[in-house]
Amino acid sequence: MDLCIRAIETLLTMDDTSGAGRLGVRRGVAVAVRDGRVAWIGPDAEAPAADNEIDASGCLVLPGLVDCHTHAVWAGSRAGEFEQRLAGADYTAILEAGGGILSTVRATRSASDQRLRTLAVERLRAMAARGTTTVEVKSGYGLDPETEVRILRVAREAAAEVGLTVRTTFLGAHAVPAEWRPDRAGYVAHVLADQLPLAAAHADFVDVYVDRGAFTVEEGETILRAGAAAGLDLRIHAEQVAHTGAAAMAARLGALSCDHLEQLDAEGIEAMARHGTIAVLLPGAMLYLKDPPPPVAALREAGVPLAVATDLNPGSSPVGDLWTCATLACVTMGLTVEEALLGVTAVAADALALPQHGRLREGGPADLVVVRPPPGEQAHAAALVQFLGGAQPVATIARGVQIA
Ligand code: NIG
Ligand code: FE
Repeated sequence: MDLCIRAIETLLTMDDTSGAGRLGVRRGVAVAVRDGRVAWIGPDAEAPAADNEIDASGCLVLPGLVDCHTHAVWAGSRAGEFEQRLAGADYTAILEAGGGILSTVRATRSASDQRLRTLAVERLRAMAARGTTTVEVKSGYGLDPETEVRILRVAREAAAEVGLTVRTTFLGAHAVPAEWRPDRAGYVAHVLADQLPLAAAHADFVDVYVDRGAFTVEEGETILRAGAAAGLDLRIHAEQVAHTGAAAMAARLGALSCDHLEQLDAEGIEAMARHGTIAVLLPGAMLYLKDPPPPVAALREAGVPLAVATDLNPGSSPVGDLWTCATLACVTMGLTVEEALLGVTAVAADALALPQHGRLREGGPADLVVVRPPPGEQAHAAALVQFLGGAQPVATIARGVQIA
């Protein structure tokens, strides 16, 4: 074996086929890794010999975390906007006045590839240090063909440099850029004709920000349909600031996930349940924009799977730590500990169409994190989520290699 994680006090496989509850709890086990895959899971006393060993006594081991919604490639700073919003300025009003997302677009367009990549690598390294091994990254701070493609390319290069699995999402319809302001319809036509054909080669998914101050449901539907025709799977920013009906529309089109959902109504919940759409909850954005919680109880009752992601970006959610988001999802949205931990692992992987990720089983990818509970706490799942930022990752392994 290449590597063996020994003396694991508590293993959470997140594998509901293992017969050990939804979290797949096992105690006193070891995990052996060969050629980037989990080769063996069993009692520590029977652990096979390995070239390298990690001692996980007192620790929990779980699958590497999956962050299924980020905007991790950008340049520039929105610290001034943060202060404006603390003083009462409105997020959408700032965007409509040409700031917000559009100020990040200006800074990102003028940054070199090298600068964008350096910034992205730093952000992804910080995420890896907290236990993330798979990340989704959206474009949407270019809003022109060249910069949209640059962002997607940089996302893949930066993730490869850090050792993360990455899925990229084309979000040319994130905002109407300044030069197209007088001609929204013209910008949508430009996304379809000039951005999507180039971006599709660098992306796995297409996404649209449908909201007040952004795009309409009709515009969103046109772009998602074109993305699907270009071979991309669908996801959407829906029902964040205002209720629009975007979630129901995207669910009917077969979107993998609808994200945000603070303003989701019963029709949207019903459509998501019927079409098997995953709800991606983004408690960082909810906290910073002071939004109400999404209808978690109704989503749960309808059987809609719940994922949790950071939405890492410099405006609505300057948060890259999935542990913090798991805690916020419990405290501010009402998720259970089980739901939050599945939401940052197995369900998040499903939201990226990566069914082998986010769970630990023999033959699956050797992506895992060794975590020490907060001081004085037992190696129990709840202790990882109870303390805000309190989980202490001591090793992050991606495809069998220690990356943090
Ligand atoms: O997911 N809602 C739109 N897009 C991002 C925010 C991006 C930004 O503010 O720069 C989001 O919250
Ligand atoms: Fe987002």
